[in-house]
Amino acid sequence: MNLKELVGIEVAKYVKDGMVVGLGTGSTAYYMVKEVGRRMKEEGIQVTGVVTSSATEQQAKELGIPLKAIDEVDYVDLTIDGADEISSDFQGIKGGGAALLFEKIVATYSKECIWIVDESKMVDKLGDFPLPVEVVPFGSHNLFRLFEEKGYNPKWRKTADDEILITDGGHYIIDLALEVIENPHALADELDRYVGVVEHGLFIDMISKVVVGTPEGPKEIAVPGK
Ligand code: A5P
Repeated sequence: MNLKELVGIEVAKYVKDGMVVGLGTGSTAYYMVKEVGRRMKEEGIQVTGVVTSSATEQQAKELGIPLKAIDEVDYVDLTIDGADEISSDFQGIKGGGAALLFEKIVATYSKECIWIVDESKMVDKLGDFPLPVEVVPFGSHNLFRLFEEKGYNPKWRKTADDEILITDGGHYIIDLALEVIENPHALADELDRYVGVVEHGLFIDMISKVVVGTPEGPKEIAVPGK
């Protein structure tokens, strides 16, 4: 069993009967969704899923997990999702799978969020992983140029066919190779101010817990003060 599978299965224990559960996106969240489907079938728990991407929607439907759209619920009890990097103060970069916008919306309306990662994603400071910024296509080449001028080393997110990727929300993604993000709060505020930026992959103060996959087994870390 790989580390992603290990944490995906472990974290599903937090899903309780009757919950509205935010189902994250990516190769780690995949195992959590699979385990929730198994628990529904074999243990008889009933949950309603709120998906964060078309990919997770397809998986959840195949597993027979009943779904509601985010706007059909007032809130989500618990969202479980992967992450690309988590800093020592529990801020995160997400969006490597291009689902950051819907992931952040679902997380925002969740009472609690837990991230699941393998230990390679726990870092001191964020930034080694390129920071995804989701942008409106109109004017995006000018925004790209602005990022170049700022020294943010922008790169278009492309498909396997070398086309600009279009997100589930109909936008483009520009990845910023920043190397190190000294002040995630300040950068998040700055990115929020660019016209044409729909959302960015800095997830600030969003989680209460991380479940980390290590060769010794899953390790749970509670975020202080949450
Ligand atoms: C999707 O857009 C992302 O935020 C994922 O949650 C993140 O990239 C983690 O993905 P993996 O679990 O596949 O590494």
